[in-house]
Amino acid sequence: MKKVMLVFGTRPEAIKMCPLVNVLKTHPDDFSTVVVVTGQHREMLEQVLHVFNVEPDIDLAVMKPGQTLFDVTCNILLKIKKVLEGERPDVVLVHGDTTTSFAAALACFYLQIPVGHVEAGLRTHDIGSPWPEEFNRQAVDIVSQYYFAPTEVSRQNLLDEGKRPDKIWVTGNTGIDALHTTVDPEYSHHELDWAKGSRLILITAHRRENLGEPMHRMFRAIRRVMEDYPDTKAIYPIHMNPLVRKAAHEELDGFDRLHIIDPLEVFDFHNFMAKSYLILTDSGGIQEEAPSLGKPVLVMRDTTERPEGVKAGTLKLVGTEEDVIYNEFSRLLSDVSEYEAMSHASNPYGDGHASERIASVLSDGHLR
Ligand code: UD1
Ligand code: UDP
Repeated sequence: MKKVMLVFGTRPEAIKMCPLVNVLKTHPDDFSTVVVVTGQHREMLEQVLHVFNVEPDIDLAVMKPGQTLFDVTCNILLKIKKVLEGERPDVVLVHGDTTTSFAAALACFYLQIPVGHVEAGLRTHDIGSPWPEEFNRQAVDIVSQYYFAPTEVSRQNLLDEGKRPDKIWVTGNTGIDALHTTVDPEYSHHELDWAKGSRLILITAHRRENLGEPMHRMFRAIRRVMEDYPDTKAIYPIHMNPLVRKAAHEELDGFDRLHIIDPLEVFDFHNFMAKSYLILTDSGGIQEEAPSLGKPVLVMRDTTERPEGVKAGTLKLVGTEEDVIYNEFSRLLSDVSEYEAMSHASNPYGDGHASERIASVLSDGHLR
C-alpha cells in the first residue's frame, strides 16, 4: 500500500487534481491518499472542492488579500514542512505551474520525498512569460521523479531537457476528465437567458503579468468592438483578485451588454463555454478545454505553453495591445470563414481518462 499525498491550492489545480483524487480513492487496496490544500485561493478553491465532493485532509490556509509571491511561497514552505515530516508520503503529486506547486515541490526536495508532476513538460521557453508560471513549471520538473505529460509535445520538451524516458508517461490532461462530466445540452442559467438571441462572448482575465496597463488595454479593446457589434452580449465571470476587479470596473462599467459576474462553479463555466460564440481569455486551462468544445479562443497573451490548440486551429494568440485585440476580435465577428475555420472540435489534450492512466502508473510498481 502506497501513501500518495496530493497538494494543490488554486482553482485550476483543483479542477485538474480532484478527478485524480476521486479515481485514487476507488483503489483503496493500492493507495491511501492524503489531500493537502494550501488555500492559496479560498473561495475559488472551495467552489471546486464542493463540485467534486473532495474533502481536504489538511488545509494550510495561506491566502491573504493582495498576497505577494513572497507571502505565498514562504507561508507554504514553512507550513508544509511539518505536514510532510508527519505524514512521510511515498510520493507527493503536484500540478502544473502555480506557486503552490513550486513551493510544495521544493519542500519535498529539501526533505528528499519523491515528487510526481501532473501536467509536466509544458513550456513557452520564455522564463518571463507567463510570469511566474514558466519558472514554476520548469523548477517543479527539475525536482520531480515522475512526469505525467499531457501530450507528446510536453513529453518531447522533457526529453529535450534530458529527463529520463522511463519516468515520463503521456496521459492526456486531467482537466479533460472533468469536462467529460460537466457539459449538458439541457443546461440553463438566467445569464444565458439574458444573452439569448445575441452572440455570446465569454471573457476571463487574471494573469499577473497582465495586471495594470495591459489589462486596461484588453478591456478597452473588448468594449470598443462590442460597441461596433450590437448583436453581441458578453459575460465576464471575474477573478477574485481585487486588482483585476478594479481594472475591469474602471473600463467596463456602464456598458449594459456586458455583465460582470462572480466566478462560476466549474460545472456552470463549462456549460457557459459550450453555449458561447467565442472566448477571450488569458487563462491556461481554458485553452485546453476550448478545442474539445470547438470554441474559438482569442488568447490575450504573447506566448502560450499550449501550442497544440493553436495547431488545431481553435486558439489564436493576440497579445495585449489594444489595436491588435480590436482588429482580431472584430475580424472574428465579421469574417464567417475565419470563424468557421476556428470552430472545429478536436481533442489534443486527451480522451478524458488521464486520471485513470496516472493511477495505473502509480499502482504498477513504478514508485520506488
Ligand atoms: C494563481 C496562479 C496562476 C493561476 C491562477 C488561477 C501563482 C503565482 N499564480 O494566480 O498561475 O493561473 O491562480 O486563477 O501561483 N483571491 C481571493 N479569493 C480566491 C482567489 C484569489 O480573494 O479564491 C484574491 C486574493 O486577494 C489573492 C489574489 O486574488 O491575494 C491573487 O491570488 P493569487 O493566487 O496570489 O494569484 P492568481 O493571480 O490567482
Ligand atoms: N473556470 C471556472 N469558473 C470561472 C472561470 C474559469 O470554473 O468563472 C475554470 C475553467 O473552466 C478552467 C479553469 O477554471 O478549468 C481555469 O482556471 P484559471 O483561468 O483561473 O487558471 P489558469 O488555467 O490560467 O491557470
